[in-house]
Order: sequence, then C-alpha cells, then structure tokens
Amino acid sequence: MYKAKQFRLSGLNGISDQTVEMHFKLYEGYVKETNNLQEKIAELLKDGKVDQEEMPAYSELKRRLGFEYNGMVLHEYYFANLMKGGSAQPDAKSSFIKSASKSFGSFDVWKTDFIGIGKMRGVGWAICYQDPTSDQLSNHWISLHEIGNVAGYNPVLVMDVWEHAFLLDFKPAERAKYIEAFFSNIDWQSVDQRLSRPAIRASHAA
Ligand SMILES: [Fe+2]
Repeated sequence: MYKAKQFRLSGLNGISDQTVEMHFKLYEGYVKETNNLQEKIAELLKDGKVDQEEMPAYSELKRRLGFEYNGMVLHEYYFANLMKGGSAQPDAKSSFIKSASKSFGSFDVWKTDFIGIGKMRGVGWAICYQDPTSDQLSNHWISLHEIGNVAGYNPVLVMDVWEHAFLLDFKPAERAKYIEAFFSNIDWQSVDQRLSRPAIRASHAA
C-alpha cells in the first residue's frame, strides 16, 4: 500500500496556490488508484493462476497500473523539484550546471532542449534524466505518464505539462508562460541531490 506524501508548497511564482492544491488532490487520486489496482490484481492472483477468462480483466488492470503508478511517482518528483523562492538558473557551482555543460555543451542548450520538449503538442511530461552508466543527462518527452520513460534512468528534473498543471492560471495556448513560471520556481538543490544520489527516491511505502 502506498501513502500520499505531503508537500509543503505554496506561494509559487505564477503557479497559484489554488492550482497546487488541486494538483495535490489529483496526485492523491493516483496513489489511491494504484492501491486499488494492486488489491484487485492480488485478488485475481489469490488462487495461484490467471485463467483464460480472467485474462482480459487482468490485462486491463495491469495496463492501468502502469498509468496510475507512473502518475503517482512522476507527481512526487514534480512537487519535490519546486519550491517557494526557487530560481530559473542553478548556482554556477552546482552539479547540474556541470552535468548540463558536459552533456549539452552549455546549460542554455540543455534548457532549449528541455523547454522544446515541454512545448510539444500532446499530454505528458518533460523529464531530464541522468544515464546511470555514463552520467550523461538526456531530456525526454513522456506521453501520458507511462510512455517514454527510459528504464533504469534517474529522473533529475520533472515538469508536468498536462493542462491541469496550469489551466487555472493560464490559457491552454499559453503553455510557454507556464513553463517560464515553472522554471522560476525550481529547487535546484533538490535537483542536485538527485544527481549525486542516482536512483534514490524517498521511500513512501506505508
Ligand atoms: Fe499533474
């Protein structure tokens, strides 16, 4: 069973408290649904087999689990890389600046790529990952919550670009303004911690 994590997040720049509160509720929905699906799947497995007539229901539950589970986890990364009083630019001495320069030539080129992904049409996420084998950063588009995540890669900066992330504050066509607001609230210290501790995510299993 998973328990929704609590995030102390308010007073962001350009992203209203109302949006953040609504977003927490959505996140809690993902946690609840993940638990529900796991229970239903456990129920099906109870007799030690998945028989032919159970297969369609079982398959649907497993597909939905990928959606809900990734929805839960990505929101945790997202909320945790935002803070009141954050900044658009990391400290010049930060690990992130060094990694971005090594991987992309400069922080600015990395940012152009990340923002470009954020502006892509569709429903999903922009995620900057660290390749655990080479330490290189790479930016990816994730459709919905579950399509495009790179297996084994460490999410370093996670940006929700579903419309619910900004619709109370900006028009649907103003995603670029939301992205600018998102950047002005980044907690680069938390981003740096992810870089120095790859593959570690705060445990939230109850
Ligand atoms: Fe979201």
